[in-house]
Amino acid sequence: MSSLPTQAGGVPVLVLKEGSNRSRGREAQHGNITAAKVVAESVRSALGPKGMDKMLVDNFGDTTITSDGRTILDEMDIQHPAAKMLVEVAKAQDNEAGDGTTSAVIIAGELLSRAEELINKDVHPTVIIDGYRKAAEKALETLEKIAMPVDLKSQDFLKKAATTSMGSKIVAEYKDYLADLAVKAMLAVTEKQGDVYKVDVDDVKVEKKTGESLRDTALINGIVLDKEIVHSGMPKRLENAKIALIDASLEIEKTELDSKINIERPDQIEGFLKEEETMMRDMTNKILASGANVVVCQKGIDDMVQHFLARKGIIAVRRAKKSDMEKLARATGGKIVSSVGDISPSDLGYAALVEERKIGDDKMTFIEGCKNPKAVTLLIRGGTQRMTAEAERSIHDALCVIRDLVQEPKIVPGGSAPEMEMARVLRKCAEKMPGREQLAVRVFAEALESIAVTLAENAGLDPVDILSELRTRHEKGETWAGLEVLAGKVQDMSKANIFEPLSVKKQIIKSANEAASMVLKIDDVIASGKMKGPPTPPGGAGGGMGGMGGMGGYPGAGEY
Ligand SMILES: Nc1ncnc2c1ncn2[C@@H]1O[C@H](COP(=O)(O)OP(=O)(O)OP(=O)(O)O)[C@@H](O)[C@H]1O
Ligand SMILES: [Mg+2]
Repeated sequence: MSSLPTQAGGVPVLVLKEGSNRSRGREAQHGNITAAKVVAESVRSALGPKGMDKMLVDNFGDTTITSDGRTILDEMDIQHPAAKMLVEVAKAQDNEAGDGTTSAVIIAGELLSRAEELINKDVHPTVIIDGYRKAAEKALETLEKIAMPVDLKSQDFLKKAATTSMGSKIVAEYKDYLADLAVKAMLAVTEKQGDVYKVDVDDVKVEKKTGESLRDTALINGIVLDKEIVHSGMPKRLENAKIALIDASLEIEKTELDSKINIERPDQIEGFLKEEETMMRDMTNKILASGANVVVCQKGIDDMVQHFLARKGIIAVRRAKKSDMEKLARATGGKIVSSVGDISPSDLGYAALVEERKIGDDKMTFIEGCKNPKAVTLLIRGGTQRMTAEAERSIHDALCVIRDLVQEPKIVPGGSAPEMEMARVLRKCAEKMPGREQLAVRVFAEALESIAVTLAENAGLDPVDILSELRTRHEKGETWAGLEVLAGKVQDMSKANIFEPLSVKKQIIKSANEAASMVLKIDDVIASGKMKGPPTPPGGAGGGMGGMGGMGGYPGAGEY
């Protein structure tokens, strides 16, 4: 029965709408945990430099190839509400830190999986949640302790961290070259305000164009628009550009009302056309009067206006993106005007050079030497569209890692060294803890160790051997001992130059713990008739994906 049947004198009292699903207590927990575990399982094989990539096909048949945790989960059309919470973890991680999404989801999945074992042993979820909270606090404290402050004056560590983040992506072959560009780009847009540095990833414009190879990716000192100059009669290159940024259509606007004009004589038509021409000439003259020699328009430009502008030797670009207009305004010091009549010389932006260049099969407009030197564009090149798309995602991770380090200049080693150290400290803490919370802290440590296990598994190494070696070396005080998967052995990660920002690791712990606790707190799932209810899987943990066609297709979905 789907609604809440309460027997009152033999008459069922319907509380919920017909067709609603409800599951409670263990059943609800089991369903939620299993769904979340399946999601975590699906990204597991993508972790680390030896991780595999996923090919995701959407409803329209478009494919994405990626190893980025957030992208994988975004592209999978996940329906189960608890599974969606893990997607939220990836999103939170991506928004806060930009990297570490796969790790956060894996740890959240492990925390839930191990919590279920404890629930089966009659440990109450609130005790587990409390234990996890204490463990997370201690883990964060440990991270702070092992982190090493870095001096931003030398770009060394920025580059090493950016290289590490790209080392686990398809672009790994070119990681050094790309990391170098990413560091240069971010430093170009970094501002010092008093004692703190401020930097925004969005200030680096990223454009991609298929063709050539990743090696030809370039950093341009200015803004690149993926637009060509509108008219063939316009110059293709202009120095000392005075740029008008217009957010209005340079066309004769059609009236919204349908109207009819009766024309009786040919001269009336002529008068009509003349009037239109005058209006367009007027627009052109207003632009000319401002002293502009380049026009970037967010809307369309009429053929006749193009022609008039071309005759005056003015460059024009139409249908620029709103975000590009904003970047241009910041870069060139210009103001975006929404009416042609309003342009004044003080609204114009300045750039040393505006030039159209052929990139691959297309033409792009380069606006270089802007008034504000803090304007840069990374132009990504790559053999196929899928390659440039994945390169864009990987470069985004690297830019975020650099931002994280600039804002909090502390690094930790990679290759699961910090996770192993946190696990060691937690186990020691657990010894002193009373009662059942101790169990929760211990499983928290195991969940952290799953990063080492997964890195080893993905690299085809024996996870048991690796884990025991890592544990022993951490016991001996080798805080920075981690698994270098490219060499296939446990070593001091500082010697392997695998570094990550402290803030990424801290965020992983926070996001994973929050999500796990949220799922654990739920003991009642009520799904309205319209929604497919959360599945109650038939017995035990369900590893593997069980088909990628959305979690709604999980065995037993909506069957209770
Ligand atoms: N050479 C290496 N040897 C061992 N571990 C490495 C190496 N390079 C990176 N790692 C580790 O790989 C993990 C990162 O893998 P990956 O980039 O695939 O996932 P993520 O950063 O958690 O998520 P995403 O990048 O998808 O947002 C980190 O734990 C990092 O320390
Ligand atoms: Mg990463």
